[in-house]
Amino acid sequence: MDLYEYQARDLFEKYGVPVLAGIVADTPEEVKAAAEKLGGVVVVKAQVKTGGRGKAGGVKVAKTPDEAYEAAKAILGLDIKGHIVKRVMVAAGARIEEEYYFSVLLDRANRSYLALASVEGGMEIEQLAVEKPEALARVEVDPLTGIDQAKALEIARAARFSDELAPKVADVFVKLYEVYTGEGATLVEVNPLILDGDGNIVALDGKVTLDENASEVRHPEHEELEDKDAADPLEAKAKASGLNYVKLDGEVGIIGNGAGLVMSTLDVVAYAGENHNGVKPANFLDIGGGASATVMAAGLDVILGDPQVKSVFVNVFGGITSCVAVAEGIVKALEILGDTATKPIVVRLDGNQVEEGREILAGANHPLVTLAAGMDEGADKAAELAAA
Ligand SMILES: Nc1ncnc2c1ncn2[C@@H]1O[C@H](COP(=O)(O)OP(=O)(O)OP(=O)(O)O)[C@@H](O)[C@H]1O
Ligand SMILES: [Mg+2]
Repeated sequence: MDLYEYQARDLFEKYGVPVLAGIVADTPEEVKAAAEKLGGVVVVKAQVKTGGRGKAGGVKVAKTPDEAYEAAKAILGLDIKGHIVKRVMVAAGARIEEEYYFSVLLDRANRSYLALASVEGGMEIEQLAVEKPEALARVEVDPLTGIDQAKALEIARAARFSDELAPKVADVFVKLYEVYTGEGATLVEVNPLILDGDGNIVALDGKVTLDENASEVRHPEHEELEDKDAADPLEAKAKASGLNYVKLDGEVGIIGNGAGLVMSTLDVVAYAGENHNGVKPANFLDIGGGASATVMAAGLDVILGDPQVKSVFVNVFGGITSCVAVAEGIVKALEILGDTATKPIVVRLDGNQVEEGREILAGANHPLVTLAAGMDEGADKAAELAAA
């Protein structure tokens, strides 16, 4: 889960990372009041989960509360790379002497953590990495020992901070690493980290990605950071039922058991769709091993609630769960859903007790259900029904 800048700022503050005062606001009036409260020069900053806000006109300096009001009017409602600005942060204005870059992230390929630092901050890091790779220090961080003062100094020196500045930025690196491990993050990035007019190091912008696997167990308080308004309503509904669901753009709803089978079902359906008006999978949905009636009903309910869906392909392989249980699950699920189930459903069953499972479905003779003998045939039928 990516956080908004103001949420990252609050976490930074909690861990003692130097930040500036900031007040979130949703209307120009609130922005004006916030600017009056902060006093002096302020910066009005769009709160959207994407970079390049500055260049898109989403970061504006205001010398007076009236200017802040005008800035807010210009920024609220702005479309930044497809993200509409609904909220801004009014931040105290900093006197910037120099801009730096620092991040620590999970380096999956190397099964380790990686710290990146540069004395050339402010510009986009992707651009810096390409145009001036020598200016970006990359230092591997052992997850067992982390970033202590000595490691932080090593990073600062690798990034060619001066002898005078290195210990100062190192203090901040240590604290940012505490945010990273303390909150179970996969990324903590500060761009820019600045040297201000008084010689202080300050985090002026923050990007934090939390590891949702860690949040569930170790950080129940992270739930409050979730932006429920921005979440896709179908994904939110699936999450509430404990389903692994990802909304996609197509017309064929997909239900399968096991992530691998569902992934290959998406491929096979996309391929079959090429012969049927180019229809595509509408979602990823893994109902897991159990595939009980209630889980099947919850899954079908989510998929049938997607107005883009024209047909559904249920592709289940009976392993530990027998096809009898799955077939009974589908029949029960359709009973539970009653009249809300209105779209054709193609079912392919295979594996443990497949014959008995198919008999149950054939016996139920539900008008919406078509049985398919194999995966390719089922995908083709579902795509054909979606294109009709
Ligand atoms: N509180 C502040 N006081 C003074 N200047 C600021 C402040 N916050 C941001 N800036 C200036 O605006 C620039 C962009 O801000 P920020 O880094 O927060 O946004 P961004 O989304 O990363 O935008 P961009 O990708 O264009 O840098 C900073 O590099 C800095 O020069
Ligand atoms: Mg930035």
